[in-house]
Amino acid sequence: MPSVSLTKSTAFRPPSPTPLAQPLGAIALLRTLRDNPLEAWTQAFFEQPIVTMRLPFGAVATVSDPAAIRRVLLDNAANYRKDTLQRRIVSAGLAHGLLMAEADQWRFQRRTLAPLFARKAVMGFAPFMLRAAEEMTARWAAADADEAIDVAAEVTRLTLEVLRQTIFSDGLGRDTEDFQEAMRCYFDTIGQIDPFDLINLPDMIPRFTRWKVRPALRFFESAVDDIIARRRRRLAEAPQAVQRDILTLLLEAHDVETGHGLTEAEIKSNIITFIAAGHETTANALAWSLYLLSQSPEWSERVAAEARRELAPGRPRDGVADRLIETRAVIEEAIRLYPPLAAISREAIAADELADETIAAGTTIVIAPYVLHRHRRLWDEPDLFDPTRFLPPARETIDRYGYLPFGAGPRICIGATFALQEATLVLATVMRRLRLRLAPGFAVWPLQRVTLRPRGGLPMHITARKPERSAPQPERDARLHAR
Ligand code: HEM
Repeated sequence: MPSVSLTKSTAFRPPSPTPLAQPLGAIALLRTLRDNPLEAWTQAFFEQPIVTMRLPFGAVATVSDPAAIRRVLLDNAANYRKDTLQRRIVSAGLAHGLLMAEADQWRFQRRTLAPLFARKAVMGFAPFMLRAAEEMTARWAAADADEAIDVAAEVTRLTLEVLRQTIFSDGLGRDTEDFQEAMRCYFDTIGQIDPFDLINLPDMIPRFTRWKVRPALRFFESAVDDIIARRRRRLAEAPQAVQRDILTLLLEAHDVETGHGLTEAEIKSNIITFIAAGHETTANALAWSLYLLSQSPEWSERVAAEARRELAPGRPRDGVADRLIETRAVIEEAIRLYPPLAAISREAIAADELADETIAAGTTIVIAPYVLHRHRRLWDEPDLFDPTRFLPPARETIDRYGYLPFGAGPRICIGATFALQEATLVLATVMRRLRLRLAPGFAVWPLQRVTLRPRGGLPMHITARKPERSAPQPERDARLHAR
């Protein structure tokens, strides 16, 4: 598709499984879906507009044709609801939140929550993001260069911290370490696909993967209850003194059409949803970007130069993420190659036709950004890292429904602006001051859980860049020219 050719001299091929020539047998397929679904794709998926197959839980159609995807996610979206497997994987804690709501409940919540993630609100969160990035960068700069730091774990901690500050800016009212540990345990668990889910055993049969963490789940949910109750009391006593963070916005949110607020269960579920949907996804976007930059001296220097210019002392901070154009192109390319949500799924309510194939009611539709973003029909040299795809003029040639890291249509990610702003600010802050080198001998490999992460983390050696020369000062330069 894209007619603009890439700068292949500097592009390189980062690690990914080679698509299989033939489909796996039933047992090997189940095992691979459990261990790393990314390794189950065959060549046909990267070449055909649609591939249909029968799995133990029913018919599945993987769609990679932009027009058909548009039909599922936009034009005929009412015919495609979130599917049963997805419902089982996410825990009860998310059931009343935006991610899992359907029909009227979803419409009401989306309308009500949209202002929380609108551009203006998100720009107001930039100082939290920059501060968290600066703290992490200073910690890395102080570390011994001989000691490898797990950059993937570090950025996961950072994205949790940003959400904690933007959601509950006045603290947790509990021990932060306990809360973080419970939160980590909670989100690790809901991210696991239980083999019982895959073979479609009824819900009444307990899932052992979820049993062992029940105490952590209860601790986390009750901590969120307490935080909400405390904030309600403060809002009733002295509303002017309360921070305008996401929690306050949630408690005050009103539907523009009906004037109704959110119920207690919806508020709690949405807090858990924002943390669940927002922390590992953004962390993976950052981890992959840092890894790719560690392999590309050219792009590492380009991003560092842009960051030195735009984050120089005295430069305005307002809207700075919008001026970090090359940094953003690296992130967009990183989430093309390694989309944090590697697959989106839906269930057809009634029969339909997609890419010239008849789809029976009940079919599971898979739209896999991982496959779509490397599809032979849609991309030039799809497996190569080349951020110039996302700079003008190449950018304009990308099909809207051929690049979907945040989904599309009415259920497009509500946090996309938040995530891109955060990732851009953090990447620029790190690259401005530091150089990253992958630990020698470590083999990077993408592993698909609910999100697509580097298997075994990302051990890196970090060194400081040379101090910057002071930035040109327009006033002084003008005086010099006038002489
Ligand atoms: C790089 C980071 C992120 C990626 C790649 C990502 C990706 C996605 C995708 C693909 C969807 C659509 C799922 C579907 O159609 O089935 C989605 C939905 C959603 N995301 Fe994100 N997301 C990211 C960050 C965030 C953040 C930071 C938040 C909130 C703080 C968030 C909250 C949500 C919510 C609530 C939904 C459901 C929207 C709805 O159904 O109306 N996401 N995300």
